[in-house]
Amino acid sequence: MDTLDALYKKCSECEGCSLHQTRTNCVFGSGNPNADLMFVGEAPGEQEDLQGKPFVGRAGQLLDKFLYAVDINREDVYIANILKCRPPKNRNPLPEEEEACIDFLRDQVNIIQPQIIVCLGSVAAVKLIKPDFKITREHGQWFKKGNFLMCAVYHPAFLLRAPRKKEDMLVDMKAIKAQLDELQRG
Ligand code: URA
Repeated sequence: MDTLDALYKKCSECEGCSLHQTRTNCVFGSGNPNADLMFVGEAPGEQEDLQGKPFVGRAGQLLDKFLYAVDINREDVYIANILKCRPPKNRNPLPEEEEACIDFLRDQVNIIQPQIIVCLGSVAAVKLIKPDFKITREHGQWFKKGNFLMCAVYHPAFLLRAPRKKEDMLVDMKAIKAQLDELQRG
C-alpha cells in the first residue's frame, strides 16, 4: 500500500476527471496520519482550492468552533473530502467525479485506520454510509461499517445558512467526543 505522501503525489497529478482542468490545487487532506477520528466533507471550495487544504474557508472556521467547543484538537484528527478538486461554482459533485476520486479516500482510510469516520453533510453520508441517507432524520446516529463506527452531522456550510440547527450540531459533536473518549479508554 502507498504511504499518504505517495498517495498525495498521485492525487496532485490526477487527471481522472475534468476537474483537474480548473483546480488551483488538489486538496488531498490534512491532519494527524494516525488519527482515531476522521472527518469527510464533500469537495473543496474556493479557499480550499487556493490554499490546498480542506475546510479553511468560512465553513471550516465554523467547524473549528465546534471542534473547540467539544475539546477536540484539529491537529489530532484527519480531515478530507469525497472530491479532491473544486467543482466549478461549488456545485455538487457529479457521480462520475465521485467515482473517479473515491479510491483516494478509500486508500486514505485504509492507511489512517481511524476508529470513527464522521461525514460532514449529506453528500458524504450518502456516498459513505448509505444511498438513502437522510441527514435531517439520521444525523448523529451511529452506523457500524466494517472496522469503523460512522455517523453524519450537518455540513458547516449548511449551518451558516441555517443557524438554528447549530444546537443539533453541538449535541452530535458532544456525542462524537464521548464516543471517541470511550474508544480511546479501550
Ligand atoms: N466544504 C467541504 O465540503 N469541504 C471543504 O473542504 C470545504 C468546504
